[in-house]
Amino acid sequence: MADPHPTSGLPTALLAEDDPEVADLVRRHKESLFPSVGLNYAEPIELRRGEGQYVYDGEGRQYLDFFGGIATVSTGHANPEVNAAVKAQLDRITHTSTLFLIRSQIELAERLRAMTPPKLNKVFFTNSGTEANEAAFLITTLNRDSNELVALRHSYHGRSFATINASGQAPWRSSTLSPLHVHYVGNPYCYRCPWEKTYPSCGLICARDVEAVIRTTTSGRPAAFVAEPIQGVGGFITPPPEYFQEVKAILDKYGIPFICDEVQTAWGRIGAADFGFQAYGVEPDVVVFAKGLANGVPIGGIVATDELATSIRSLSLSTFGGNPIATTAALANLNYIATHNLRDHARTVGSYLIERLWGLAERHQVIGDVRGMGLLVGIELVRDRLTKEPAPDVALRVLDAAKERGLIVGKGGLHANTLRLSPPLIVSTADVDAAVGILDEALTAAVA
Ligand SMILES: Cc1ncc(COP(=O)(O)O)c(C=O)c1O
Repeated sequence: MADPHPTSGLPTALLAEDDPEVADLVRRHKESLFPSVGLNYAEPIELRRGEGQYVYDGEGRQYLDFFGGIATVSTGHANPEVNAAVKAQLDRITHTSTLFLIRSQIELAERLRAMTPPKLNKVFFTNSGTEANEAAFLITTLNRDSNELVALRHSYHGRSFATINASGQAPWRSSTLSPLHVHYVGNPYCYRCPWEKTYPSCGLICARDVEAVIRTTTSGRPAAFVAEPIQGVGGFITPPPEYFQEVKAILDKYGIPFICDEVQTAWGRIGAADFGFQAYGVEPDVVVFAKGLANGVPIGGIVATDELATSIRSLSLSTFGGNPIATTAALANLNYIATHNLRDHARTVGSYLIERLWGLAERHQVIGDVRGMGLLVGIELVRDRLTKEPAPDVALRVLDAAKERGLIVGKGGLHANTLRLSPPLIVSTADVDAAVGILDEALTAAVA
């Protein structure tokens, strides 16, 4: 096996134009797929194989994966325990539809109920985070007889007709037509406070804005408030510790359900806790999940109160939702996270990562902010620390330079200037050292 911690001295990656096979794939991708399905890198790569925290391209070149398929590969690529369970299930039965009893679906639903607050009693399975948010919007709008939703600016909740409009980021809003009437509140973005205040002397004006918006722009009885504990696509924007408790008190005053979109933050990723809402000490009325639950096998869903779950009075099912393969993978994945104590591991390694990145910030003026929890960590790049002018071009160059040196990281944020690190939860402090070493070189190369 190649050097597990490549930091320097690696051969420069083959450029697509040098590799006819990759160039051909890029051409065919562009020819046959929607133009909105973008590719990372000036020279895109095909990841053909993965093992643990590593992925390999067509040339067999190894990369340390610090993005995890967008915070989705939680227990490592080709995890033998998860894969063995999936292979055995494939050989038993792949699909039955939800018209038949599915043992693994029932077991997973029981497990999710046990992991969430007692009032969250019913589970509905989907195949993606988008669909899961759709289900959450459906039950809350039906229950409250309202099409009004309160959402955060800089949020991302999916790519469908309703979820696009719940998302507060122009680059992702292909349509503003919507079945929902969405009211957007300022987000808890301390680095770029919408009110230009400083935490904690701000008095959490962002939380108080929720009440102001409810009272001034809604009918007074919106269907729900939706938020991610840490805004993922928004650039891992991490609210201050008291934010959700203050917001929840306001929601309770008006009897408004809280939809917690845990698509990026669940399953131990944020360290110590299973979910983001636990880290913030609140109980939502609907938990939305997807991404990391089945280690990359498509799955999504919601856990909701009995009252909200019974709001759907018509017939309603998802053909693939809760299918035997995805739910078997999820159970094996949750077992792996629990038996290997990956929640606590994510906290320890994540704290070390954040500490190392602040160290990097001492040498690289382009780093404006480092934030996150556990192994969900963002690095916001700016042209100048005083003006905080976003540096999306530098972010692009860092992504390419890191890839050339054998490291994969993500990118996001309204201005596309935040590097997103969300590796599989199995990474070690030695992996962090390797990643930070490469980022150091990549940042130097990107600003040169
Ligand atoms: C917080 C959040 N919600 C919902 C979604 C949509 O999930 P999917 O892409 O599985 O539809 C995403 C995707 O990135 C997300 O980050």
